[in-house]
Amino acid sequence: MPKPQHRIIIGNSQTMPEIPDNTVHLMVTSPPYPMIKMWDQQFRELYPKIEALWKNLEASGNEKTVAQIYDAMHEELGKVWAETYRVLIEGGIACINVGDATRSINGKFRVFPNHARTIERMEKIGFITLPYILWKKPTTKPMYKGKGAFLGSGFLPPNAYVTLDCEFILIFRKGALRKFPPKDPDRYASQLTKKQRDEWFSQIWQVTGTRQTADELERRTAAFPDEIADRLIKMFSIKGDMVLDPFLGSGTTLKAAEINRRNSVGYETDPSLLATVTKKTDKCKAANLEVTKR
Ligand SMILES: C[S@@+](CC[C@H](N)C(=O)[O-])C[C@H]1O[C@@H](n2cnc3c(N)ncnc32)[C@H](O)[C@@H]1O
Repeated sequence: MPKPQHRIIIGNSQTMPEIPDNTVHLMVTSPPYPMIKMWDQQFRELYPKIEALWKNLEASGNEKTVAQIYDAMHEELGKVWAETYRVLIEGGIACINVGDATRSINGKFRVFPNHARTIERMEKIGFITLPYILWKKPTTKPMYKGKGAFLGSGFLPPNAYVTLDCEFILIFRKGALRKFPPKDPDRYASQLTKKQRDEWFSQIWQVTGTRQTADELERRTAAFPDEIADRLIKMFSIKGDMVLDPFLGSGTTLKAAEINRRNSVGYETDPSLLATVTKKTDKCKAANLEVTKR
Protein backbone atom coordinates (compact mmCIF):
# COMPACT_ATOMS: atom_id res chain seq x y z
CA MET A 1 0.00 0.00 0.00
CA PRO A 2 1.41 3.46 -0.87
CA LYS A 3 2.44 5.79 1.97
CA PRO A 4 -0.45 7.99 3.10
CA GLN A 5 -0.47 11.56 1.76
CA HIS A 6 -1.49 14.54 3.88
CA ARG A 7 -2.40 18.04 2.86
CA ILE A 8 -2.99 21.15 4.95
CA ILE A 9 -4.63 24.18 3.41
CA ILE A 10 -4.34 27.45 5.31
CA GLY A 11 -7.67 28.97 4.48
CA ASN A 12 -11.37 29.07 5.25
CA SER A 13 -13.12 25.71 4.69
CA GLN A 14 -16.42 27.34 3.75
CA THR A 15 -15.12 26.72 0.25
CA MET A 16 -12.85 23.78 -0.53
CA PRO A 17 -12.01 24.19 -4.23
CA GLU A 18 -8.90 22.05 -3.69
CA ILE A 19 -11.11 18.96 -3.18
CA PRO A 20 -13.09 17.48 -6.10
CA ASP A 21 -16.72 16.32 -5.60
CA ASN A 22 -17.30 12.84 -4.12
CA THR A 23 -13.70 12.04 -3.15
CA VAL A 24 -13.63 12.10 0.67
CA HIS A 25 -14.62 8.99 2.64
CA LEU A 26 -14.83 10.42 6.17
CA MET A 27 -14.92 13.78 7.94
CA VAL A 28 -13.73 13.95 11.56
CA THR A 29 -13.83 17.40 13.08
CA SER A 30 -14.59 19.75 15.95
CA PRO A 31 -15.62 23.29 14.98
CA PRO A 32 -15.38 26.40 17.14
CA TYR A 33 -18.42 26.04 19.42
CA PRO A 34 -21.01 28.82 18.98
CA MET A 35 -21.55 30.96 22.09
CA ILE A 36 -18.48 29.62 23.91
CA LYS A 37 -16.51 32.69 24.95
CA MET A 38 -13.12 31.46 23.73
CA TRP A 39 -14.40 31.45 20.13
CA ASP A 40 -16.22 34.83 20.13
CA GLN A 41 -13.24 36.75 18.84
CA GLN A 42 -12.59 34.38 15.96
CA PHE A 43 -16.21 34.43 14.78
CA ARG A 44 -16.12 38.24 14.96
CA GLU A 45 -12.89 38.48 12.98
CA LEU A 46 -13.88 36.00 10.27
CA TYR A 47 -17.46 37.15 9.69
CA PRO A 48 -18.36 40.89 9.43
CA LYS A 49 -22.07 40.15 9.98
CA ILE A 50 -21.29 38.58 13.37
CA GLU A 51 -19.01 41.47 14.32
CA ALA A 52 -21.82 43.95 13.52
CA LEU A 53 -24.32 41.96 15.62
CA TRP A 54 -21.96 41.85 18.65
CA LYS A 55 -21.39 45.58 18.39
CA ASN A 56 -25.15 46.09 18.27
CA LEU A 57 -25.60 43.91 21.39
CA GLU A 58 -22.84 45.77 23.24
CA ALA A 59 -24.42 49.10 22.37
CA SER A 60 -28.10 48.27 22.87
CA GLY A 61 -28.24 45.23 25.18
CA ASN A 62 -31.10 44.07 22.94
CA GLU A 63 -31.98 40.45 23.86
CA LYS A 64 -33.08 39.60 20.31
CA THR A 65 -29.54 40.18 19.09
CA VAL A 66 -28.27 37.23 21.15
CA ALA A 67 -30.52 34.90 19.15
CA GLN A 68 -29.33 36.52 15.92
CA ILE A 69 -25.67 36.02 16.84
CA TYR A 70 -26.30 32.37 17.69
CA ASP A 71 -28.17 31.86 14.38
CA ALA A 72 -25.43 33.60 12.41
CA MET A 73 -22.70 31.43 13.95
CA HIS A 74 -24.55 28.25 12.94
CA GLU A 75 -25.22 29.71 9.50
CA GLU A 76 -21.46 30.22 8.97
CA LEU A 77 -20.61 26.70 10.21
CA GLY A 78 -23.40 25.41 7.97
CA LYS A 79 -21.47 26.57 4.90
CA VAL A 80 -18.65 24.22 5.89
CA TRP A 81 -21.10 21.34 6.41
CA ALA A 82 -22.62 21.97 2.95
CA GLU A 83 -19.17 21.94 1.36
CA THR A 84 -18.41 18.71 3.23
CA TYR A 85 -21.54 17.17 1.72
CA ARG A 86 -20.25 18.02 -1.74
CA VAL A 87 -16.84 16.40 -1.26
CA LEU A 88 -18.02 13.23 0.55
CA ILE A 89 -18.61 10.08 -1.47
CA GLU A 90 -22.00 8.35 -1.44
CA GLY A 91 -22.04 6.45 1.87
CA GLY A 92 -19.34 8.73 3.33
CA ILE A 93 -19.57 9.54 7.04
CA ALA A 94 -19.32 12.89 8.85
CA CYS A 95 -18.41 12.97 12.57
CA ILE A 96 -18.76 16.29 14.41
CA ASN A 97 -17.54 16.75 17.98
CA VAL A 98 -19.47 19.66 19.45
CA GLY A 99 -20.45 20.79 22.94
CA ASP A 100 -23.41 22.84 24.07
CA ALA A 101 -22.65 26.24 25.60
CA THR A 102 -23.89 27.76 28.83
CA ARG A 103 -23.65 31.46 29.26
CA SER A 104 -25.07 34.46 31.07
CA ILE A 105 -25.84 37.36 28.78
CA ASN A 106 -27.47 40.49 30.22
CA GLY A 107 -27.68 38.64 33.53
CA LYS A 108 -29.69 35.73 32.09
CA PHE A 109 -28.19 32.25 32.24
CA ARG A 110 -29.13 29.71 29.56
CA VAL A 111 -27.90 26.81 27.47
CA PHE A 112 -27.23 27.12 23.76
CA PRO A 113 -27.86 23.57 22.46
CA ASN A 114 -25.29 23.47 19.68
CA HIS A 115 -25.75 19.75 19.14
CA ALA A 116 -29.45 20.20 18.28
CA ARG A 117 -28.75 23.11 15.94
CA THR A 118 -26.03 21.14 14.18
CA ILE A 119 -28.29 18.11 13.64
CA GLU A 120 -31.04 20.31 12.21
CA ARG A 121 -28.65 22.00 9.81
CA MET A 122 -27.04 18.75 8.67
CA GLU A 123 -30.47 17.28 7.94
CA LYS A 124 -31.46 20.36 5.91
CA ILE A 125 -28.30 19.87 3.82
CA GLY A 126 -29.35 16.28 3.11
CA PHE A 127 -27.30 14.23 5.60
CA ILE A 128 -28.87 11.23 7.33
CA THR A 129 -28.50 11.38 11.12
CA LEU A 130 -27.10 8.23 12.75
CA PRO A 131 -27.01 7.38 16.49
CA TYR A 132 -24.53 9.65 18.22
CA ILE A 133 -22.00 9.37 21.02
CA LEU A 134 -21.94 11.22 24.33
CA TRP A 135 -18.37 11.92 25.34
CA LYS A 136 -18.39 12.09 29.13
CA LYS A 137 -15.63 14.43 30.19
CA PRO A 138 -13.93 14.02 33.52
CA THR A 139 -13.23 17.60 34.53
CA THR A 140 -16.33 19.79 34.51
CA LYS A 141 -17.51 20.93 37.94
CA PRO A 142 -21.19 21.31 38.91
CA MET A 143 -22.76 24.63 37.91
CA TYR A 144 -24.72 27.12 39.91
CA LYS A 145 -25.96 30.24 38.16
CA GLY A 146 -23.30 29.69 35.53
CA LYS A 147 -20.48 30.11 38.03
CA GLY A 148 -19.02 26.63 37.72
CA ALA A 149 -20.06 25.43 41.20
CA PHE A 150 -23.12 25.07 43.38
CA LEU A 151 -21.58 27.60 45.78
CA GLY A 152 -23.11 25.70 48.70
CA SER A 153 -26.66 26.17 47.40
CA GLY A 154 -27.17 23.08 45.24
CA PHE A 155 -29.12 21.32 48.01
CA LEU A 156 -31.93 23.85 47.99
CA PRO A 157 -34.35 23.54 45.07
CA PRO A 158 -35.08 24.85 42.53
CA ASN A 159 -32.38 27.22 41.22
CA ALA A 160 -29.34 24.99 40.57
CA TYR A 161 -28.51 23.80 37.05
CA VAL A 162 -27.58 20.39 35.70
CA THR A 163 -23.87 20.18 34.90
CA LEU A 164 -22.85 20.04 31.25
CA ASP A 165 -20.39 17.19 31.56
CA CYS A 166 -20.87 15.61 28.14
CA GLU A 167 -19.93 16.71 24.66
CA PHE A 168 -21.48 15.18 21.56
CA ILE A 169 -19.96 13.24 18.73
CA LEU A 170 -22.64 13.56 16.08
CA ILE A 171 -22.55 11.06 13.23
CA PHE A 172 -24.10 11.47 9.78
CA ARG A 173 -24.06 9.67 6.45
CA LYS A 174 -24.34 11.01 2.92
CA GLY A 175 -26.83 8.85 1.03
CA ALA A 176 -26.99 5.07 0.97
CA LEU A 177 -24.60 2.63 2.64
CA ARG A 178 -21.11 2.57 1.14
CA LYS A 179 -20.48 -0.30 -1.26
CA PHE A 180 -17.32 -2.46 -1.47
CA PRO A 181 -16.18 -5.21 -3.84
CA PRO A 182 -16.44 -8.68 -2.25
CA LYS A 183 -13.54 -9.48 0.13
CA ASP A 184 -12.02 -6.02 -0.34
CA PRO A 185 -8.49 -6.50 1.07
CA ASP A 186 -8.23 -2.95 2.52
CA ARG A 187 -11.56 -3.39 4.28
CA TYR A 188 -10.51 -6.72 5.77
CA ALA A 189 -7.15 -5.26 6.80
CA SER A 190 -9.07 -2.57 8.70
CA GLN A 191 -11.15 -4.99 10.77
CA LEU A 192 -11.82 -4.04 14.41
CA THR A 193 -11.21 -6.37 17.35
CA LYS A 194 -14.21 -7.69 19.31
CA LYS A 195 -13.23 -5.51 22.29
CA GLN A 196 -13.05 -2.41 20.09
CA ARG A 197 -16.41 -3.16 18.49
CA ASP A 198 -18.15 -3.80 21.81
CA GLU A 199 -16.69 -0.73 23.55
CA TRP A 200 -16.68 1.83 20.76
CA PHE A 201 -20.14 1.22 19.33
CA SER A 202 -21.77 2.03 22.66
CA GLN A 203 -23.26 5.45 23.28
CA ILE A 204 -21.22 6.75 26.20
CA TRP A 205 -17.46 7.21 25.87
CA GLN A 206 -15.28 8.07 28.84
CA VAL A 207 -12.13 9.25 27.13
CA THR A 208 -9.62 11.31 29.04
CA GLY A 209 -6.75 12.91 27.26
CA THR A 210 -4.99 15.77 25.69
CA ARG A 211 -7.21 18.59 26.96
CA GLN A 212 -5.54 18.09 30.34
CA THR A 213 -1.99 17.45 29.15
CA ALA A 214 -1.83 19.67 26.07
CA ASP A 215 0.72 22.42 25.57
CA GLU A 216 -0.39 26.05 25.39
CA LEU A 217 -1.13 26.10 21.65
CA GLU A 218 -3.09 22.85 21.77
CA ARG A 219 -5.16 24.28 24.62
CA ARG A 220 -5.80 27.37 22.55
CA THR A 221 -7.35 25.19 19.84
CA ALA A 222 -9.31 23.05 22.36
CA ALA A 223 -7.74 19.96 20.79
CA PHE A 224 -9.69 16.73 21.19
CA PRO A 225 -7.82 13.70 22.57
CA ASP A 226 -5.92 11.54 20.03
CA GLU A 227 -8.11 8.64 21.15
CA ILE A 228 -11.28 10.29 19.80
CA ALA A 229 -9.87 10.80 16.30
CA ASP A 230 -8.26 7.35 16.37
CA ARG A 231 -11.50 5.55 17.25
CA LEU A 232 -13.64 7.42 14.70
CA ILE A 233 -11.16 6.81 11.90
CA LYS A 234 -10.99 3.09 12.69
CA MET A 235 -14.80 2.82 13.02
CA PHE A 236 -15.83 4.71 9.89
CA SER A 237 -13.07 4.37 7.28
CA ILE A 238 -10.70 1.78 5.84
CA LYS A 239 -6.99 1.87 5.05
CA GLY A 240 -6.19 4.03 2.02
CA ASP A 241 -9.31 6.23 2.50
CA MET A 242 -9.32 10.05 2.43
CA VAL A 243 -10.17 11.75 5.74
CA LEU A 244 -11.12 15.44 5.94
CA ASP A 245 -10.86 17.80 8.91
CA PRO A 246 -12.20 21.26 7.91
CA PHE A 247 -11.28 22.68 11.37
CA LEU A 248 -7.82 21.15 11.74
CA GLY A 249 -6.56 23.04 14.83
CA SER A 250 -3.47 21.29 16.21
CA GLY A 251 -3.72 18.45 13.67
CA THR A 252 -5.07 15.60 15.83
CA THR A 253 -7.07 14.15 12.92
CA LEU A 254 -4.08 14.29 10.58
CA LYS A 255 -1.95 12.42 13.12
CA ALA A 256 -4.60 9.72 13.64
CA ALA A 257 -5.01 9.37 9.84
CA GLU A 258 -1.26 8.82 9.39
CA ILE A 259 -1.05 6.27 12.21
CA ASN A 260 -3.99 4.35 10.71
CA ARG A 261 -2.68 4.57 7.12
CA ARG A 262 -5.40 6.86 5.82
CA ASN A 263 -4.78 9.94 3.64
CA SER A 264 -5.93 13.27 4.95
CA VAL A 265 -6.73 16.84 4.07
CA GLY A 266 -7.19 19.59 6.64
CA TYR A 267 -8.18 23.26 6.57
CA GLU A 268 -7.15 25.83 9.16
CA THR A 269 -7.61 29.61 9.11
CA ASP A 270 -4.93 30.32 11.73
CA PRO A 271 -1.43 30.03 10.19
CA SER A 272 0.22 30.25 13.63
CA LEU A 273 -0.97 26.68 14.30
CA LEU A 274 1.21 25.23 11.55
CA ALA A 275 4.15 24.78 13.95
CA THR A 276 1.97 22.78 16.35
CA VAL A 277 0.64 20.58 13.53
CA THR A 278 4.14 19.96 12.26
CA LYS A 279 5.34 19.04 15.74
CA LYS A 280 2.47 16.59 16.18
CA THR A 281 2.92 15.00 12.78
CA ASP A 282 6.72 14.82 13.16
CA LYS A 283 6.09 12.46 16.02
CA CYS A 284 4.26 10.09 13.69
CA LYS A 285 6.77 10.63 10.84
CA ALA A 286 4.19 12.02 8.42
CA ALA A 287 6.78 12.80 5.80
CA ASN A 288 4.26 13.16 3.00
CA LEU A 289 2.85 16.45 4.18
CA GLU A 290 2.08 19.27 1.77
CA VAL A 291 1.11 22.72 3.00
CA THR A 292 -0.72 25.24 0.80
CA LYS A 293 -1.36 28.82 1.83
CA ARG A 294 -4.24 30.46 -0.03
C1 LIG B 1 -12.06 23.41 18.08
S1 LIG B 1 -10.67 23.79 17.11
C2 LIG B 1 -10.19 22.22 16.42
C3 LIG B 1 -9.32 21.41 17.32
C4 LIG B 1 -8.80 20.15 16.68
N1 LIG B 1 -9.83 19.11 16.65
C5 LIG B 1 -7.57 19.65 17.43
O1 LIG B 1 -7.60 18.51 17.93
O2 LIG B 1 -6.61 20.40 17.56
C6 LIG B 1 -11.31 24.64 15.71
C7 LIG B 1 -10.26 25.15 14.76
O3 LIG B 1 -10.91 25.57 13.57
C8 LIG B 1 -10.26 26.74 13.07
N2 LIG B 1 -11.28 27.40 12.21
C9 LIG B 1 -12.33 28.14 12.60
N3 LIG B 1 -13.09 28.47 11.54
C10 LIG B 1 -12.49 27.94 10.44
C11 LIG B 1 -12.82 27.92 9.05
N4 LIG B 1 -13.93 28.51 8.58
N5 LIG B 1 -11.98 27.26 8.21
C12 LIG B 1 -10.86 26.65 8.67
N6 LIG B 1 -10.52 26.63 9.99
C13 LIG B 1 -11.32 27.26 10.87
C14 LIG B 1 -9.86 27.49 14.33
O4 LIG B 1 -8.79 28.39 14.08
C15 LIG B 1 -9.48 26.34 15.27
O5 LIG B 1 -8.10 26.06 15.20
